[in-house]
Amino acid sequence: MKYADFYQRSVVTPEEFWRDEAALIDWNTPFTQVLDYSQPPFARWFVGGRTNLCHNAVDRWCSAQGDKPALIAISTETNTERSYSFNELRAEVQRWAAMMQSLGVRKGDRVLIYMPMIAEAAFAMLACARIGAVHSVVFGGFAANSLASRIEDAKPVLIVSADAGSRNGKAIPYKPLLDEAIALSSSKPARVLLVDRGLAPMSRVEGRDVDYAALRASHLAAQVPVTWLESNEPSYILYTSGTTGKPKGVQRDVGGYAVALAASMKHNFCGKAGETFFATSDIGWVVGHSYIVYGPLIAGMATIMYEGLPISPDPGIWWSIVEKYKVTRMFSAPTAIRVLRKQPPEFMRKHDKSSLKALYLAGEPLDETTSSWIAGELGVPIIDNYWQTETGWPILSIAKGIEDAPTRLGSPGVAMYGYKVKLVNETTGAECAANEKGVVMIEGPLPPGCMQTVYGNDQRFVDTYWTRHGDKMLYSTFDWGVRDADGYYFILGRTDDVINVAGHRLGTREIEESITSHPNVSEVAVVGVEDKVKGQVAVAFAILKDASAATNEQDIMSVVDRQLGAVARPARVYFVTQLPKTRSGKLLRRSIQAICEGRNPGDLTSIEDPSSLRQIEQVLQK
Ligand code: PRX
Repeated sequence: MKYADFYQRSVVTPEEFWRDEAALIDWNTPFTQVLDYSQPPFARWFVGGRTNLCHNAVDRWCSAQGDKPALIAISTETNTERSYSFNELRAEVQRWAAMMQSLGVRKGDRVLIYMPMIAEAAFAMLACARIGAVHSVVFGGFAANSLASRIEDAKPVLIVSADAGSRNGKAIPYKPLLDEAIALSSSKPARVLLVDRGLAPMSRVEGRDVDYAALRASHLAAQVPVTWLESNEPSYILYTSGTTGKPKGVQRDVGGYAVALAASMKHNFCGKAGETFFATSDIGWVVGHSYIVYGPLIAGMATIMYEGLPISPDPGIWWSIVEKYKVTRMFSAPTAIRVLRKQPPEFMRKHDKSSLKALYLAGEPLDETTSSWIAGELGVPIIDNYWQTETGWPILSIAKGIEDAPTRLGSPGVAMYGYKVKLVNETTGAECAANEKGVVMIEGPLPPGCMQTVYGNDQRFVDTYWTRHGDKMLYSTFDWGVRDADGYYFILGRTDDVINVAGHRLGTREIEESITSHPNVSEVAVVGVEDKVKGQVAVAFAILKDASAATNEQDIMSVVDRQLGAVARPARVYFVTQLPKTRSGKLLRRSIQAICEGRNPGDLTSIEDPSSLRQIEQVLQK
């Protein structure tokens, strides 16, 4: 089939289109209405239908392929490897569901999961889905303050965590950070369930903290039936950064998400039941939710969860996994491929990668050098895909499952089915012509699988993302883009203060707020600066209250490490006595960024004091 026809049908008769796609999953009760868009921009998909993510990901596959692998957990940090069949996964998930129920978790309650990349994290997510609890996974690399703001907002009744993560053979204790976060938050979980990996000692709080191994032992034979949920009930919250310092809880539904994942697994990732999928992301990010846990399992594939570095014990590790488990589809990020490109090629070449049919890359711009290099090494199509935490699945890509259309270097591809992508001129609001730069927007309703709202704050959802253009509502991605005459898009960076470090989305405002909490910092500007490996890195310019005090770069970095986590640590901190601002006091972040990247700082007519920019140039030269 021609993709153009498939796409046309999805946007001209979306209800017909998605009714057909909905047949890819199991429904306990059929829906009565495909789409309710009576209250734009809120879209409700598959109204009245009852289904369950855990059923579709696990139970559904138990009769036909119960003994086939479902979840393969590999850790090169602890040198452990364990494969769970669909039957075994169902048993573990039922134990987890029973444990959660015994700790008071009921349908609709939030469960916060702060875990390393171990199988138990996936069990916990699927157990929530099974009983209708709403999970909120927090990336294990985040520290106490990041965690505290998420606890505060989600108000979980239960937190699931572990003694420690591990990086490069070194234990990273989680429990002290978790205790600090709970102390900082005004909302307190009733219970904390702790997986003890034996990596770091843990202190326990009487009456609150529960040992996983002990509790599991009393639920070994647990049978917990699936709770059938109305399609629009919430499945999870995943926090993401934006312009303000306060992360937004992206809330997703049940039915729309299951259908979107099933559709994308078929049309984009071409996954077949019984095959193995390997996404190298982390369950703390949206790629981990969609394409480590739910997507592959919904497609009946085995999924690999990998804890460890891509270059340890040697740079061939990922390809040895591909060889051993006959991975057919792999999903990673450009940064990881750039890291591998710097390694001696023989590590990669010595493994048999003939099972692999395609590599999918997302999360940040894919440069031509990286793309061509990895295509040459693997000899398979490299498929870029552009999307966001908010959308849950690709907005732009090439749907190879529909038509083997060509990819174009530097472009993630064309609009995916269901997405009415528009490029809008920022000043006039008019639609852009071919090759004219604009903001990438999506005309509502958003297709199934996308965010329903900002958790607990419908108004923030409307105010942050949506603008009215005539009788249409447009969702902003906050990315710049251009489209060529053939409909291929090119992404040109964010329109807001979000930066992308090694595919990790971070808010510069959050980092600024953290740095200003240092007692000797009066003001700071954080910008994203181009980096050859990580795409971007954060760079900070700080004004000290007392310049004679002995505050150094390391002191500032430690504040960020402690509060937000090393993932948000600026690569450099420079000290200045003035920051470039407009006469009305607005920080000129873009001009600072331009100077850092050796570009022209742009229009400076509104700057209050041009010498502030010269100071930035000077400190950079030192
Ligand atoms: O700026 C875009 C960039 O990452 C942002 C979304 O990040 P996150 O919410 O973490 O979701 C990642 C899901 C893959 C986007 O607004 N981005 C994502 N994919 C690409 C990209 N930029 C260029 N090319 C991509 N393929």
